[in-house]
Amino acid sequence: MNKEYPPACDQNKDPILSVLKEIITDENIRVLEIGTGSAQHAVFFAKNLKDIVWTTSDVASEHTRIRSVLDEAKLPNLRGPLAFEIGKDDFPKYNYDIVFTANTFHIMNWKKCKNLMKILGNRLREGSQVIIYGPFNYDGKFTSESNALFDQWLKDQDPQKGIRTFEDINKNMTKNGFVLFKDYEMPANNRMLVFTRLEFMK
Ligand SMILES: C[S@@+](CC[C@H](N)C(=O)[O-])C[C@H]1O[C@@H](n2cnc3c(N)ncnc32)[C@H](O)[C@@H]1O
Repeated sequence: MNKEYPPACDQNKDPILSVLKEIITDENIRVLEIGTGSAQHAVFFAKNLKDIVWTTSDVASEHTRIRSVLDEAKLPNLRGPLAFEIGKDDFPKYNYDIVFTANTFHIMNWKKCKNLMKILGNRLREGSQVIIYGPFNYDGKFTSESNALFDQWLKDQDPQKGIRTFEDINKNMTKNGFVLFKDYEMPANNRMLVFTRLEFMK
């Protein structure tokens, strides 16, 4: 139930990989991961998607742990960690085709989530994609009892944390120039939201 601990990360990596294989094209190979955390996803996806370049990023306090996992993995297509804390750091000065972030929207407060969506709208080119993985509510309602308990557990730690509503994310992504490509149902009441950047208005 606890979506913060590495075992959850371990359980969902195969279903996420299947979706990534469906989405990633020859043109979209530079991936930036936001909120890399334990780096288990990063290592697994870089190992299994040899044609992509996976760049990790997180808040500075996570870097020592990420660096040691990356050093051990020794994968030529695995980079970082870059310092990217939403609300503090500028978006990295490189071009990315895909931004992937898992289990971060319920950790960051909603203001930071909105800030991130705005930054992505300003920085990603037409045709690039944003993948947001995690538990989400629909019509403001939990999709399961376990998600409701998880939300309460998050709010007990910090009232600003909590499961976000799909419609709010979709509205903000649309406002920032994206269109929903697909909303994938994932195991354990999680979703994988894939958005595509539309052409910039002249
Ligand atoms: C629950 S963990 C998820 C880790 C990993 N993505 C996973 O799915 O296992 C949340 C991650 O978000 C990161 N994070 C929290 N606040 C952040 C912020 N303001 N900007 C960027 N990352 C943030 C944390 O450092 C942590 O790595």
